[in-house]
Amino acid sequence: MNDTFLKACRGEAVPYTPVWIMRQAGRYLKQYQKIRKKVDFLTLCKTPELAVEVTIQPIDALGVDAAILFSDILIPAEAMGMKLKFFEKKGPVLTPPVRDEHSVKKLSVPEPEDSLGFVMETIKILRKELNTRVPLIGFSGAPFTMATYMIEGGTSKNFLQTKKMIFQSPGLYASLMEKITQTVVKYLEAQMKAGIQAVQLFDTWAGIFSPQDYKDYVLPYIKRVIKEIKDWQSTELTESVPIIYFVGECGGLLEEIKTCGADVIGIDWRINMDDAIKRLGNNISVQGNLDPCALFQPRKKIQGRVKDILNMAVSARGHIFNLGHGILPETRVENVVAMVEMVHNLSKK
Ligand code: CP3
Repeated sequence: MNDTFLKACRGEAVPYTPVWIMRQAGRYLKQYQKIRKKVDFLTLCKTPELAVEVTIQPIDALGVDAAILFSDILIPAEAMGMKLKFFEKKGPVLTPPVRDEHSVKKLSVPEPEDSLGFVMETIKILRKELNTRVPLIGFSGAPFTMATYMIEGGTSKNFLQTKKMIFQSPGLYASLMEKITQTVVKYLEAQMKAGIQAVQLFDTWAGIFSPQDYKDYVLPYIKRVIKEIKDWQSTELTESVPIIYFVGECGGLLEEIKTCGADVIGIDWRINMDDAIKRLGNNISVQGNLDPCALFQPRKKIQGRVKDILNMAVSARGHIFNLGHGILPETRVENVVAMVEMVHNLSKK
């Protein structure tokens, strides 16, 4: 198997810098659109044969060094008891929004093997199909980012309801976070049991906080998730499963993020990689951090950006090349293929 990705996560020597792309399965690929014409997004997530197919599409099309399970961070919120729908322009909607004690009480901590069995089934098939190719990344939303969707009822601009709950009813927020944290831990343990080889925790919206509020209201929960799944690994698995923690707009928070216990920190493009590495220290690998919009430039310019990031990352314990956030549907596939080749060629040792 191509294990450059797992080696870079662990800070071991690699022949070249591995690369994968956040949201690498998706609408910018014609093959994906073809399947989406036939089924809606949630059906796609819940039909193992189809989820397997779209997970593998970018491996065939791009030559990336890892596969990521096809699913969504909001699937477990549905399993906790909320109604989930995806709309073409509006994105995800969760109803009714969780804003009082009664609605927190109603939420359950699901048994993943029962209500999320389709995810484990997808993982098992994927491990068989990918075995000699690349490792499979599993994932979950981080507790805070999941909470924003559950409290706001969908995507938000200023997260007013979430911050209101935190600052006006901290006890209510803590009780919601307790249920989400337990759900995330169980969900990731089930994914590891089913065969995933690395975990990414997506904390897309955690960058909305001051360092102190991040430390008080986000970090304790992510630390707990990471500690509990690492403890579980050490008794249940023979080989450790690296943990990647991604925060959108992480630049103001790196001194706090560094203490979370993850093996790899995902970095967005608003900060230079060398600066991020200096602040994170040498006990941790990094992942990132090309602006997804940089792929709209001509090839030569893309190459310049790739070179800059690779150069800045030489001081890291390990580096996995990626975008600083998910790839956009308007992206030209040829540019993505070229980017992957550039990363491999320019980083060859
Ligand atoms: O990375 C991958 O290829 C694996 C699959 C994956 C998806 N979503 C598929 C998806 C992963 C890892 C996610 C994570 C996710 N989902 C996040 C965290 C990462 C990030 O991008 O910030 C968040 C915040 C979500 C919630 C979500 N799902 C939103 C806001 C949307 C709507 C926006 C959009 O792009 O349409 C989705 C839908 C979604 N998730 C799509 C895909 C491929 C598009 C659905 C479609 O086919 O129409």
